[in-house]
Amino acid sequence: MCGIVGILGTRPVAAQIVDALKRLEYRGYDSAGVATLESGRLTRRRAEGKLRNLEVLLSEAPLRGAIGIGHTRWATHGRPNETNAHPHATERLAVVHNGIIENFRELREELTAKGRVFATETDSEVVAHLVTDLMDEGKAPIDAVAAALPRLKGAFALAFLFAGDDDLLIGARRGAPLAVGHGDGEMFLGSDALALAPFTDEITYLEDGDWVVLRHNGASFRNEAGQIVARQKQKTAASALLIDKGNYRHFMAKEIHEQAEVVGRTLAHYVDPAALSVQLPFVFPFDPVKLDRITILACGTAYVAGLTAKYWFESFCRIPVEIDVASEFRYREAPMRAGGLTIVVSQSGETADTLASLRYARQNRQCIVGVVNVPTSTMARESDILAPTLAGPEIGVASTKAFTCQLAVLACIAVGLGRAMGTLDRERERSLVGELMALPGLIVEATKREHEIEHLARTLSHARDVLYLGRGTSFPLALEGALKLKELSYIHAEGYAAGELKHGPIALIDEDMPVVVIAPPDAVFEKTVSNLQEVSARGGRIILIGDAGAAEAASVHVEAAVAMPPMAPTFTPIVYAVPVQLLAYHVAVVLGKDADQPRNLAKSVTVE
Ligand code: AGP
Repeated sequence: MCGIVGILGTRPVAAQIVDALKRLEYRGYDSAGVATLESGRLTRRRAEGKLRNLEVLLSEAPLRGAIGIGHTRWATHGRPNETNAHPHATERLAVVHNGIIENFRELREELTAKGRVFATETDSEVVAHLVTDLMDEGKAPIDAVAAALPRLKGAFALAFLFAGDDDLLIGARRGAPLAVGHGDGEMFLGSDALALAPFTDEITYLEDGDWVVLRHNGASFRNEAGQIVARQKQKTAASALLIDKGNYRHFMAKEIHEQAEVVGRTLAHYVDPAALSVQLPFVFPFDPVKLDRITILACGTAYVAGLTAKYWFESFCRIPVEIDVASEFRYREAPMRAGGLTIVVSQSGETADTLASLRYARQNRQCIVGVVNVPTSTMARESDILAPTLAGPEIGVASTKAFTCQLAVLACIAVGLGRAMGTLDRERERSLVGELMALPGLIVEATKREHEIEHLARTLSHARDVLYLGRGTSFPLALEGALKLKELSYIHAEGYAAGELKHGPIALIDEDMPVVVIAPPDAVFEKTVSNLQEVSARGGRIILIGDAGAAEAASVHVEAAVAMPPMAPTFTPIVYAVPVQLLAYHVAVVLGKDADQPRNLAKSVTVE
C-alpha cells in the first residue's frame, strides 16, 4: 500500500532514495518524502501528489546526507497532503511506515497526556512519538524500538533514522513486506527487491515479526522476542533496469500488448506441447482421487480469475469449488475439512486480505497452492506449492497481463488435476491442451481490434453508467469489464450474469444505457442472444463482443460489434479479456485519466 526505503550510505543518498521510490510508486502515490541526516541533524523534504513533485522540491532544496529514509504513500489515515506525508519526525528521529497501526488512537491519547505534540492526522506518527518517549526515558534507540514494537497492534513495515547516529538504521516487519539489501559498505531497506535492484542483488527478507539493526558493516536480525536470529541472504532476480514503457504511452498499454508473449511463456511452464499434455511443475501432496473440495480465495481482478476457474475445475474435476472474496472469507469462520485444496490467486502476493485467508486455510490444514506473480512475495513463501504466473513485473495498477496469466495457470491446474483425479480422460486432455496452445495466437488476433475499440471508446466515454453482461465463463469477465472501466475511467459500471438481467437490472435499460455483452460462440450463446433481444426491445445500446457471426446470429441491432477471432469455447475469457481491457484503457485515455495510476488506487493493497 505504501513504499518504504532506507539507505545507510557513504555519499549523498537522496537521489538514490528517489530512484528506489520510483520503483515503489506502484504501491501508492498520494504523497512522498525523504529524510536524511546531515552532520547528525535530521532534515526532511515532503510533497503532496506524485513523486515528481518531491523531485522538484529536492532540486530546489537538495539534501546531502549519506543516510536517509524515504516513503511514497497510499493514504489510509489522514488526507493525502504534505502535512500527513511521511517521513514523520520528532526531535530525535524520523520514521516511515507501510501498513496500519490499529491502536493508534489509544497510543496517541497516552502520548499526548505525556506532553507529546502531534502534527498530523495519521496513525503512523504515533510510532515516532512512542519511540521518542522511550528514548526520553533514557533508552538507547535499539532498546527504545525493542520496547515500542510490542506496543503496536496492526500491520507495519517501518524504517527508522536517528538524529546524531549516522551509522544506524532500524527496520521492522509485521504483516507488510520488508527486505534488507547488502551493499559494499552500504546497507539498504526496501518494501521489495525491485526497489533495491539498482543498488544490490543480495537481499535478505525479514520474516513476520522480525526487526533488523543496520550498520555500515552489516545487519543484525532479531525475531519478535528480540533474540538475534540468522536470516538467509539470497540473490534476487529483480531487474536492475527500471521497467520502462517502451514505445507505449502507458505501462498498461504495454502490458496489454505483452499478453500473447507472457501467456505463451506461462503455458510453456505447465504444458508439454509435443505430448499435448499438462505437466504441472509440482506434485500435489495429497491423493487427488480423495480430494472432495476446492476453495479459491482472492481479491479484485484476481478474484475474477478465480471465479472463472471455478467453471473449469468443476467441469474437469467434478468436485465442488467454493470461491469467495478474501476480505469476506477471512472473517466468515468458514468450516474447512482438513486435506482440502485451497488456491490463493494474487499478482503481488502481498494483498493483506488474501494473505490472511491463506493463513486461515493453513490453520484449517488445507493444501495451499499460490498462483502468484511475484515469486519472492509473502504468499509465494507461505504457500505449500507455488504456481507462478510468468507475467513479469506488472507496473500498471490495473491488472491485465497478470489476469490472463492467472487464467492460463488455473486452466492448466484444472486440466492436470482432472487427469490426476481420473475425471478427465487423455483424449479430452489432448484437446484442451491444443486449445491452450492456440491462445497466444488468438490473443494477437484479438489485440488487432484495438483501432476499432479505440473508436468505440470515444462514444462510451460519454456514458454515465455502463452495464456488462455475460453467461458461463463470460459472467466473471463481465465483472472484470465493469471493474476495469470503473477503476480506469471513474465511470460507474456493473457486471451482471446475463440471465439475471430480467430479475431487476433490466429496469435500467434505456437509450442512454450502453450494455456491453460478452458472447463468445459457446454452449450458452443462444441463451445470451435472448438477453440481447431483451435489451434491444427496450432501446438499449448494445456493444457486442463476440465472433464475426455473433451480431447476425443475434439478429438484433447493435451499436457496435467487436469481432473476436474464431476459437474453441473452453478458454474464451483468456482471449476476450483483451477487448475488455482495451475498451477500459481507451475510455480512460479519451477522458484524460491516468491509466497507469488511477486515483485512490494502489497496486498492492497490503492493508485490510
Ligand atoms: C486490478 O485491476 C485491481 N487494481 C485490483 O482489484 C487487484 O486485482 C486486487 O487488488 C488484487 O491484487 P493482487 O492480485 O495483487 O492480490
